[in-house]
Amino acid sequence: MKSKILSEARDYEAEEIKKINRGEKPTFHLAAPVGWINDPNGFSVFQKEYHLFYQYHPYSSKWGPMHWGHSKTKDFIQWEQLPVALAPDESYDSAGCFSGSAIEEDGQHVLVYTGVIEERSKHRLERVQQLQCIAMGNGIDYKKLECNPILTADMISESISEADFRDPKIWKHGSEFYMVVSCCNSEKNGEIALLTSSDLKQWTFQNMLVKNDGTYGKMWECPDFFELSNQYVLLTSPQKMKADGLEFHSGDGTIYFVGQFDYHTGIFQHGVAKQIDYGFDFYAPQTTKAMDGRQIMIAWMHSWDNEIKLEEQKWNGIMTIPREIELRDGKLFQNPVREIAQYYSNKIEFVKNHMSGNMELEGIRGRELDLEITVCDGAYEFFEVQLAKNEKYKTVCRYESKTGILTFDRMYSGICRDIVSVRKLQISPGGEEIKIRVLLDKYSVELFVNDGAYAFSSLLYVPSEAQDINFFVEGELTAHIVKHDIRIVDKAQIGKEV
Ligand code: FRU
Repeated sequence: MKSKILSEARDYEAEEIKKINRGEKPTFHLAAPVGWINDPNGFSVFQKEYHLFYQYHPYSSKWGPMHWGHSKTKDFIQWEQLPVALAPDESYDSAGCFSGSAIEEDGQHVLVYTGVIEERSKHRLERVQQLQCIAMGNGIDYKKLECNPILTADMISESISEADFRDPKIWKHGSEFYMVVSCCNSEKNGEIALLTSSDLKQWTFQNMLVKNDGTYGKMWECPDFFELSNQYVLLTSPQKMKADGLEFHSGDGTIYFVGQFDYHTGIFQHGVAKQIDYGFDFYAPQTTKAMDGRQIMIAWMHSWDNEIKLEEQKWNGIMTIPREIELRDGKLFQNPVREIAQYYSNKIEFVKNHMSGNMELEGIRGRELDLEITVCDGAYEFFEVQLAKNEKYKTVCRYESKTGILTFDRMYSGICRDIVSVRKLQISPGGEEIKIRVLLDKYSVELFVNDGAYAFSSLLYVPSEAQDINFFVEGELTAHIVKHDIRIVDKAQIGKEV
């Protein structure tokens, strides 16, 4: 039986989607169906397809009582919209179904999420309680279990705040289920608790996987923990991070730890925190293991700090391109899923191109494309790629050869608010060449530097007429440049245009 709240959300979504012009949405990124989306949730394989849920408020383009929106894909590029999966319709989640995760178990799709309860008096919010809950379903309809909530903060410790206890990530190892969940201790620092269960319903607290002394922000949201190349990786999104040199500049940022995990003791021995993405708009990443073994990460391409959207849009929020992640020498490398190449068209290539001063390259323009620039050699001070450009707008990516600093400047990217527009990133030499791969999809840009050693994600607010791409070189250099447009065409056409 669907609740009235869920049925209304489904009906509303189905009607409102029809009113949105598909052309105003990104071409190859997942975007809010209608209304608002934030964190990716429940990224998982179910019946040989990839499902992605997301924090969702269908009724306005601002955050509100959280539902779980739902999409699925076979190739991480083309997404099929499915009806709203969860709505805040139970006593234990009446103020929202917050972030969580999913696994496939015994033919069922198991969702684990945070239920939120609020108690209000006439003038203020008196109490917030966050609890972990479970729902099971068939890939479309999900039933919340009678045993909910399955986990409350006091089951971990008396000193854990019941108001900041959220974002469970579940996985199975052998015959046991494991979960990591964000907690907040009495010093108001985030910690990640590890729990186990043999039946999904009864959970036992093991230990704190990682403790936070406040060096990396306060509350740590949306943990993810997984094996990669015989090591373990913990991803989390801390709030209120403080900048350190050129690192950790997004107040609400994302970090990862790499280390060894022992299932017998529950101990995770890890190195220092590193930044996942250096851009303005990247939060709450979540991963899943693809059917061919690749670990795929997707994140909300947005930020709680730069919460802006184009005025006229009735939808707000997009996800990053799903990224293949790998560990090389303890460092996370990320690159767009290889499936993107199936959607390439209009290839333009410049081999050993001599470049100096201001240049346009024939055929290199557009707003939905994959562009790779490899600077092979030269005597140059800096080079720039100016994207989404016309007389009024430009978004600049500049690399200085002496310092190895990459600067991203969105001062003229259509932002009508006084927010941070310039960010710098220190590139460690990755050999002789510097490689910058740019994914542009209408209102977003993602950079992948030196084969994925650094990633940078940012939204743009530039009208679609600004299609030019210019290059500027102070000095001279030789570069290899390849551009592919990205088009979602009729399945029968795929491959024919390349
Ligand atoms: C992270 C987050 C989560 C929470 C969700 C609510 O962006 O704050 O911690 O579950 O968003 O929408």
